[in-house]
Amino acid sequence: MKKTTELYAGKAKTVYHTDDPDKLVMHFRNDTSAFDGEKVEQLDRKGMVNNRFNAFIMQRLQAAGIPVHFESLLDDTDTLVKRLDMIPVECVVRNFAAGSLCRRLGVEEGMELNPPVFEFFLKNDALHDPMVNESHVETFGWASPQEMVRMRELSLQVNEVLSKLFREAGMLLVDYKLEFGRYHGELLLGDEFSPDGCRLWDAKSREKLDKDRFRQGLGGVVEAYEEVARRIGVGIDA
Ligand code: TMP
Ligand code: ASP
Repeated sequence: MKKTTELYAGKAKTVYHTDDPDKLVMHFRNDTSAFDGEKVEQLDRKGMVNNRFNAFIMQRLQAAGIPVHFESLLDDTDTLVKRLDMIPVECVVRNFAAGSLCRRLGVEEGMELNPPVFEFFLKNDALHDPMVNESHVETFGWASPQEMVRMRELSLQVNEVLSKLFREAGMLLVDYKLEFGRYHGELLLGDEFSPDGCRLWDAKSREKLDKDRFRQGLGGVVEAYEEVARRIGVGIDA
């Protein structure tokens, strides 16, 4: 399936229409952004690595019975997906304390969170993606109570599958962000799963192997993403 006109350009991906009104093409760019778009750089190979990484993860989730929008990998930077009506709320699951949780609650980075924490954030860069609760989501009509239950359930199922996958490859899945959307009456996992939207630490050294390398200016950003990809068996060297 070929991409036609541009539908929407996000911070790291551009989405295109196709001849099928139910399908879109996600094009992964090298652009890397943080702090709600305040810091942006082009990182060589990142589009390719994230596209292949996302395809690998989405196929694993699909095989585990989680409904996803992923259809097929088209080439190095493009993926065919189902067109969803996106819910404007981000779902975050946390297994270890990091990032905004530490800033908000004053807990030490690295504290294990049992049971995992589940949070909603409003997808709005101008407002810096504020955390919202179920009452906000229902009152403002971003999602129904039933959809919130389903998003939480699917987010925690993803945690079971991916925490195991990364643990077996010597890494801790610290936290991650998921986005869901509606497709002919069903809720599907949309957007992407890549080191741009999660935190991954080496299990022994706790070295950061994700976008915190970019946020914190640690360098070796794409090299770390490639290291994670190799450890879990994503083909990126072909
Ligand atoms: P946070 O610690 O900044 O709240 O982020 C938690 C996790 O969710 C982290 O892995 C980054 C990811 N995330 C995004 O990728 N985009 C977002 O807009 C938000 C709010 C979180
Ligand atoms: N993904 C968001 C952004 O690009 C948040 C972040 O990663 O800091 O601004």
